[in-house]
Amino acid sequence: MTQTQPALSALLARRRLGYTLEAQFYTNETIFRQDLDFIFARHWIQVGVEPDIASPGDCMIVDIGPHAIIVARDDDGGLRAFHNVCRHRGARLLHTAKTNVGNLVCPYHQWTYGLDGSLLFAAHMPEQFDATCHGLRRVHVRSLAGLLFICMAETPPDDFDAMAQTLAPYIMPHDIRGCRVAFEEDIIEHGNWKLTMENNRECYHCNAAHPELTRSIFAEGFGFAPVGAEAEAQAERFHSMVGALHRDWEQGGLPSREIEDLVDRPTGFRTERLPLEDAGESETLDTRVACRKLLGKFSEKRLGALSVWTQPNSWHHFMSDHIVSFSVFPLTPETTLLRTKWLVHADAVEGRDYQCANLTAVWRATNRQDSDLVGKAAAGIRSSGYRPGPYAPDTESLVEKFCAWYVGRLKIGLGT
Ligand code: FES
Ligand SMILES: [Fe+2]
Repeated sequence: MTQTQPALSALLARRRLGYTLEAQFYTNETIFRQDLDFIFARHWIQVGVEPDIASPGDCMIVDIGPHAIIVARDDDGGLRAFHNVCRHRGARLLHTAKTNVGNLVCPYHQWTYGLDGSLLFAAHMPEQFDATCHGLRRVHVRSLAGLLFICMAETPPDDFDAMAQTLAPYIMPHDIRGCRVAFEEDIIEHGNWKLTMENNRECYHCNAAHPELTRSIFAEGFGFAPVGAEAEAQAERFHSMVGALHRDWEQGGLPSREIEDLVDRPTGFRTERLPLEDAGESETLDTRVACRKLLGKFSEKRLGALSVWTQPNSWHHFMSDHIVSFSVFPLTPETTLLRTKWLVHADAVEGRDYQCANLTAVWRATNRQDSDLVGKAAAGIRSSGYRPGPYAPDTESLVEKFCAWYVGRLKIGLGT
């Protein structure tokens, strides 16, 4: 146990429910390392989608703080993940975001590994050298209906299957495996990773900050409580739409009702299918589908948006015509990578079935607005005037649930 753990345990113990965390949680290097050790190295972390590595030999690299991971499709089409670290002298094997390889060859002294991680070739090693003891270190990898998760722990949390069983019927009809990544964007946000997540877990800020997004989404669906006659009337209209559409969608084979288990399990999650405004087809500027070729076997465009969240680092929006998938990776105590992927049907052709600018307009704008808000929050929290502030109980309850999950998992990690 390091000297700082008692101090961290004390900070956790005195956390006030319903309040933002103390500043150190968003700035301190030691707490950041604990986050990496106890949150990111011990839980199921969402890292990408199956179309990222569709064919045998496809590899994708993911960096999580100092942890470097390769996620690969092996020769038999299976999923594999390894530490991106050579077993000779530790060099990183792969350096490009996505690539296709026959074998994994270290650029330093050309030790060569198969896509199952086994060491196939190492020149100049003595006869008694045992290659079977020098395969790449494996990382657990699982697919949830096409969403890829890794876990670096030797023994991962055992609730992945239960989560997958619940969420797969919601996600499967959107057929992630039948998609391709039409566009991908990395943004570096100037704030701790928890600020990125907290910002995502509420829509308190949506009406003021997101003119493009609120053309199609109702803030009410993300916990926002209405105040005033106009907002209450809109909320009533929204809730009656939710009731009627949930019935229709569920009768048509699309699970839609909210399921939320965010706090009390290692692999916390939430899902719900929600109506969209106006034409109600997609999260686009005109609320109509951006891609003429619909996903999976869909023939109906107006399927709202299925929202899927996983703790600690992802959220996803599934519509009839495209999917937007967001993964969050901590870089430093005060910088965070937000990786966003836009998926369309694998056979959709740009220019014929969709325009990339139209497909990505809403969330590219929204991401920039959110990134700006995260930076502003981080700047205030960094200053000496910051004190933990209260969440609005009716509108920010899901942010509190993110913090409660985080604090609970960190306490378990610390053994307190
Ligand atoms: S460090 Fe990889 S072959 Fe030497
Ligand atoms: Fe936002």
